[in-house]
Amino acid sequence: MSMKINRTPIPFLALSLLAFIFALWAGLLRLGWQIPTPVSSLAMLHGPLMISGFLGALIALERVVALKIRWMYGVPLLAATGWLVSLLVQNQPFGPILLTAASLGGVVILGHIVRREFALHAVVMFLGSLAWLLGNILWLTGSAIFQVVFWWQAFLILTICGERLELNRVLKPSRRQQNIFAAVAFVFIAGVIVTLFNLQLGTRLSGLGMLALAVWSVPNDIAWRNLRHRLPLTRYIAWCLALGFLWMGTGGAINLVYGAQAAGPRYDAALHAVFVGFVISMIFGHAPIIFPALLGVPINFQKSFYIHLTLLHISLALRLAGDLANQFTVRMWGGLLNEVAILLFLGMTIYSVSRSLKQDSVFKHTF
Ligand code: HEM
Repeated sequence: MSMKINRTPIPFLALSLLAFIFALWAGLLRLGWQIPTPVSSLAMLHGPLMISGFLGALIALERVVALKIRWMYGVPLLAATGWLVSLLVQNQPFGPILLTAASLGGVVILGHIVRREFALHAVVMFLGSLAWLLGNILWLTGSAIFQVVFWWQAFLILTICGERLELNRVLKPSRRQQNIFAAVAFVFIAGVIVTLFNLQLGTRLSGLGMLALAVWSVPNDIAWRNLRHRLPLTRYIAWCLALGFLWMGTGGAINLVYGAQAAGPRYDAALHAVFVGFVISMIFGHAPIIFPALLGVPINFQKSFYIHLTLLHISLALRLAGDLANQFTVRMWGGLLNEVAILLFLGMTIYSVSRSLKQDSVFKHTF
């Protein structure tokens, strides 16, 4: 019994992680840390690098590996060329065009999935991919990022909520609960659409939708029941997901209370409650499922996984406290520690994958 490593996704995975590293670097610049910058436009590309270069590519890659349709590797490839060109060729639309083409590819992939299985979770993920595309089209055609971020948030929120619906099929929500979910998702999506005409109203409505989605998860997502599960890995994943939902609710509440922001501490708080608190925590929780699916290599759970999880959430609370109290230095340190938590997570994941590989080779030599 030996593991068969799937090597095809490795270059795409490496390029999406490299985009993540550049995006984190840009995040430090945006926080005000005085560090060198390799290209002058890096700080302004923080959002597109995170959303399209890293997450868009990673999410597409996960689907391509599952679907086993080779031409679909073109999507993470477009995303990778898109972020590289965006960094290297400034003041030209080539990079954004390639990233928008990647998101169009994302819609094609999800369209394929919906045609194969017409179910609520697939439709929700399809709408998520549409939001990625529409957000990128708005960005490409000159909208400011603070107007576009709602679409990018919708991309990630709908994709992750759709994925949760799919994985929750063991604890299948009743038809009534599914209808409530659809109604809540409708409010959220309506809010995002309204931002096109009335930014304040749309922001508050989408915030209400996010808050309601988080509340809906409590009785319906298995994560909340697994917080005291006897299996350590299941328990760890449950904590990642439940804390993620809490942050999505917090981000929704901030949008609902404060409305739209163009920059500054409240903008930072509203965005990163969702992008760091919800999205990154969900990634921490899904990594033990995604990596084995991508590479065919299991991840050995270790208690030390709780170090990066705890650090992420405490440092994010610090960052938001700094934001809302207008304490610039607190926010800077909170953001820096967010990055330390993420780097610890990446290090632990690589270590754990390499340990699995070593155990496999010992296994092969023994038998
Ligand atoms: C983990 C460390 C991170 C740090 C230190 C960081 C830092 C920042 C800062 C300081 C801003 C500017 C806020 C302002 O105008 O005051 C910003 C904006 C933004 N961040 Fe992050 N961020 C991080 C993670 C993320 C993640 C994981 C995502 C996406 C999944 C993300 C997406 C964005 C977007 C879309 C914007 C708006 C960009 C713009 O207006 O140009 N960030 N970030």
